[in-house]
Amino acid sequence: MSQELRAVDWTGTGLTLIDQTLLPHRAETVDVRDVDTLVDAIQRLVVRGAPAIGAAGAYGVALALLEGEREGWSETQVRQAVARIREARPTAVNLMVCVDRVMARFAEGLDAVLAEAAAVQREDVEANRAMGAFGADWLLKRTGEDRPLRILTHCNTGALATAGWGTALGVIRELHARGRLEVVHADETRPLLQGSRLTAWELVQEGIPHCVQADAAAAGTILRGDIDAAVVGADRIAANGDTANKVGTVGVALACAYAGIPFLVAAPTTTVDLATPTGDDIHIELRGEDEVLEWAGVRTAPAGSRGHNPAFDVTPGRLVTGLVTERGVLEVSAGQLPGDLLR
Ligand code: MRU
Repeated sequence: MSQELRAVDWTGTGLTLIDQTLLPHRAETVDVRDVDTLVDAIQRLVVRGAPAIGAAGAYGVALALLEGEREGWSETQVRQAVARIREARPTAVNLMVCVDRVMARFAEGLDAVLAEAAAVQREDVEANRAMGAFGADWLLKRTGEDRPLRILTHCNTGALATAGWGTALGVIRELHARGRLEVVHADETRPLLQGSRLTAWELVQEGIPHCVQADAAAAGTILRGDIDAAVVGADRIAANGDTANKVGTVGVALACAYAGIPFLVAAPTTTVDLATPTGDDIHIELRGEDEVLEWAGVRTAPAGSRGHNPAFDVTPGRLVTGLVTERGVLEVSAGQLPGDLLR
């Protein structure tokens, strides 16, 4: 089912987003007709995942043009509205890259903007399909296993987090399609437990065997020998291979390095940011304290506690065994750098 799933869709007059705050219990969509609603949807994680927010941002340029027409905005006001979309979340570079790509056609008008946004969406699905195949080939070769693999994943990287098919989850889906997947251990992941709510939901739709585990179970599961490889997505990959992804990812990478199993990052080249030299230069989004001090609106920590809520962390490139993009696999910990792929 999730093959056809579109987290972000253009209706002709606006955007339809699957409301990812309501899944898995309610599958509802939100209609977005103005820039304020889109910025709010990106910030509240109604739409989330680096490529999905990239696609939403791309169509957001069209939304700004249409709203500007309705409201009689000047070109400067439309550009300011687009800038607000571009800055709605800071860590995933895809949002900025996709908005800038579409803005390059701004002067040509709405039809050109929409054509570019549709290309962003289409190319992301194609990239995901390609990286799924490259990633599965690499994992099977690298692990050298004849039996189906036991894969750990962290965060949400399927069709909901992209324009379709998925990045890390695309690799997992490909392994499953080849009959080479035993089980997926899906970390529950914060903020808002997207691994348990969204990744698991997609795995159920696909009939892929899996279990949900607390993030804190990941290292022990890996060191006990229950996992053959970890596959995760990325929000921004610096020129030296340092990789920002969902908070908790670096712990998974450390455990994989200790256990000597592959740690594979799956991301389209739109996530590679050669203008960012290292992970230290990546802006890590700090979210509201309540997301860790409360659950479902109910306070779980004592009234006197403060919260610390980074949404992402950075895995050093030397812990990234493989980086798979739509162009193939780079062995980053062995010295290959993202720039090698883009040349
Ligand atoms: O906060 P989110 O849900 O937008 O973060 C998503 C992640 O960190 C994903 O792992 C990442 O975007 C990979 S994208 C398919």
